[in-house]
Amino acid sequence: MTFVVLTLCFMNFQLISTDFYMDIQEIMSVEKKCKPNCLFNHTEISSKTIDFFPRNCSKICGILVINSNTDLSENDLEDLFENVNGIYGGVKMENSSLTNISFLKSYPNNFNISCTVYGVSIINNSQLINLDAVKEFFFSIPFDECSFQVKNNPKLDANDLCEFGGVRDMVTLQVSGNLRDCGCRGDFITTDNILEYQNCTVLNGGLRLSNFSSSENLMALSKVKQIKGDVEIQWNNITGLFFLKSLTTILSTNGRGRKKVIVNIHDNYEMKRLGFEKINLFWDLYGGKFFINLQNLHPDFCLTIQEMMNFLAYVKFTNIQAKYCSQNLAKKIPYLTKPCAFSKLSSSEENCTALVGNVVVDANDGRYLYKLFKIKYIFGTLKIQYSKSDGLYFLTDLNYIGNLDASIPAVLIRSNNYLIKPNLPVIMNIISSSGQQAVIYDNQLLPTDYERCSLMSIGYDAEGYDIELDNQDCGKLSNGIFTGKYIVSLLFFLVALE
Ligand SMILES: *[C@@H]1O[C@H](CO)[C@@H](O)[C@H](O)[C@H]1NC(C)=O
Ligand SMILES: *[C@@H]1O[C@H](CO)[C@@H](O)[C@H](O)[C@H]1NC(C)=O
Ligand SMILES: *[C@@H]1O[C@H](CO)[C@@H](O)[C@H](O)[C@H]1NC(C)=O
Ligand SMILES: *[C@@H]1O[C@H](CO)[C@@H](O)[C@H](O)[C@H]1NC(C)=O
Ligand SMILES: *[C@@H]1O[C@H](CO)[C@@H](O)[C@H](O)[C@H]1NC(C)=O
Ligand SMILES: *[C@@H]1O[C@H](CO)[C@@H](O)[C@H](O)[C@H]1NC(C)=O
Ligand SMILES: *[C@@H]1O[C@H](CO)[C@@H](O)[C@H](O)[C@H]1NC(C)=O
Ligand SMILES: *[C@@H]1O[C@H](CO)[C@@H](O)[C@H](O)[C@H]1NC(C)=O
Ligand SMILES: *[C@@H]1O[C@H](CO)[C@@H](O)[C@H](O)[C@H]1NC(C)=O
Ligand SMILES: *[C@@H]1O[C@H](CO)[C@@H](O)[C@H](O)[C@H]1NC(C)=O
Repeated sequence: MTFVVLTLCFMNFQLISTDFYMDIQEIMSVEKKCKPNCLFNHTEISSKTIDFFPRNCSKICGILVINSNTDLSENDLEDLFENVNGIYGGVKMENSSLTNISFLKSYPNNFNISCTVYGVSIINNSQLINLDAVKEFFFSIPFDECSFQVKNNPKLDANDLCEFGGVRDMVTLQVSGNLRDCGCRGDFITTDNILEYQNCTVLNGGLRLSNFSSSENLMALSKVKQIKGDVEIQWNNITGLFFLKSLTTILSTNGRGRKKVIVNIHDNYEMKRLGFEKINLFWDLYGGKFFINLQNLHPDFCLTIQEMMNFLAYVKFTNIQAKYCSQNLAKKIPYLTKPCAFSKLSSSEENCTALVGNVVVDANDGRYLYKLFKIKYIFGTLKIQYSKSDGLYFLTDLNYIGNLDASIPAVLIRSNNYLIKPNLPVIMNIISSSGQQAVIYDNQLLPTDYERCSLMSIGYDAEGYDIELDNQDCGKLSNGIFTGKYIVSLLFFLVALE
């Protein structure tokens, strides 16, 4: 029996240290800048291991474990870390009797934690009262977030921990069970507690607003600059989100390839405007797309050109039930040098950089195509029909299309008998309230057999994904002997015979 217990204990110990040493191994292989002589390869830091601490290094490699066996005072640690300004790996502080971690500092610079393998975990420290040092940490990791946990420290007031330094930009951090946890939890807002949010500049846990009968009390959120996490705004009798007047950033952690909605604004039947003029950054920390849903708002709900420009730079939509606000194009629109209203190409102004309206390139427009050379934005749709062009080279600058007409696709390319290359050369994003980004049909020279037309693309968005193309000719049998396709295959046949 004793033997079994001992074995179990031993196995358990083995398990913990195996994990530890595997992490150390990984740190040494992942953190290319680690110098082997700067590795501290011990499972805890105490008077027994202190002699192995690399004394000459400004950056330590390893996982710094401070626990109940750590018999060093804050002052001892301060001496030990005097010349250290960063760590590759992380910090694990569990069951210690320390009151603070101000020995991890690099005045006046940030203490740099490179956390690809580990991160920071501060758990069950009965005496810990102060984590101000963390506000000066700089976290670095490519395309991900550091793991960061501060839990069950009964004397620790972590109310403002999430509003400073590197922690401010973390979304998936875990702070719980302390004397006080990060305040300004945007996901806990109710009509009763809203006035407690008046000093918040960062909202942790996203933002959830429902059942507000007016925007009056919501002015309490007017200092919020940053929202970390998902936003859901529903069942409110509000006309817009004007109360978020300082908001500049919404951070999400969606990840590549995922389509989770990050900002969901729906069933606010009195809402006529977003009022998001100031937002300039929707940012997925994991390199994914940023999805927004705008659904079941007031029938007159409208977006400004400025709002659409912001969206085009970063955002995809699941629904965008909106129209364009009527807007004076002569009034300056930031970042837009020359927006022009479009009615038809022949009478369109020259040198425009954006067109507002449904742009049509038609049979007799060949000699006016130069007017499109500088267009970067289309706020409306693009239709190319009966043209004699073999490519779309006249749209050399076109990066963005924002269509708010739910009945038509953003791009329609039809009946162009000479077209062989239907690419929009520098397209970055297409937003379309109809859900259709691009439709093509009846272009005689484009392939119709499944194999080749499935390879056809009109362009790639900023993240390198295909723009969704609905090719309505795909799979259609050619209807006459003299279709381009037939001629091409005939040519191939003849060449093969040769
Ligand atoms: C760390 O120490 C363990 C145990 O002494 C050893 O097995 C391991 O190879 C060391 N790791 C590195 C990267 O030196
Ligand atoms: C620290 O640096 C000094 C001088 O550069 C050197 O003599 C000493 O051996 C180094 N100590 C360690 C532990 O690397
Ligand atoms: C910390 O203490 C708790 C309670 O005494 C114990 O359950 C836990 O295993 C300890 N953790 C470590 C890492 O020592
Ligand atoms: C951290 O603790 C040490 C020892 O108790 C103390 O001297 C120091 O002032 C503390 N630092 C902070 C920032 O609280
Ligand atoms: C932190 O370390 C990383 C990795 O070595 C480095 O790229 C970054 O520049 C450092 N940042 C600071 C503020 O020292
Ligand atoms: C923290 O303490 C709790 C309860 O004492 C224990 O269950 C848990 O395992 C501890 N966590 C760590 C990481 O030590
Ligand atoms: C906001 O900050 C002011 C000044 O620091 C303080 O008097 C007030 O109580 C705070 N309000 C809330 C709701 O925390
Ligand atoms: C809002 O009202 C609905 C319906 O009355 C209710 O189910 C929901 O719990 C309320 N939500 C909040 C956050 O008050
Ligand atoms: C919504 O607000 C308008 C005025 O802003 C008011 O007339 C209407 O009664 C409100 N409706 C509800 C359901 O609170
Ligand atoms: C358009 O730009 C060109 C070259 O910058 C200039 O020569 C021409 O006069 C401009 N046309 C108009 C109508 O402003």
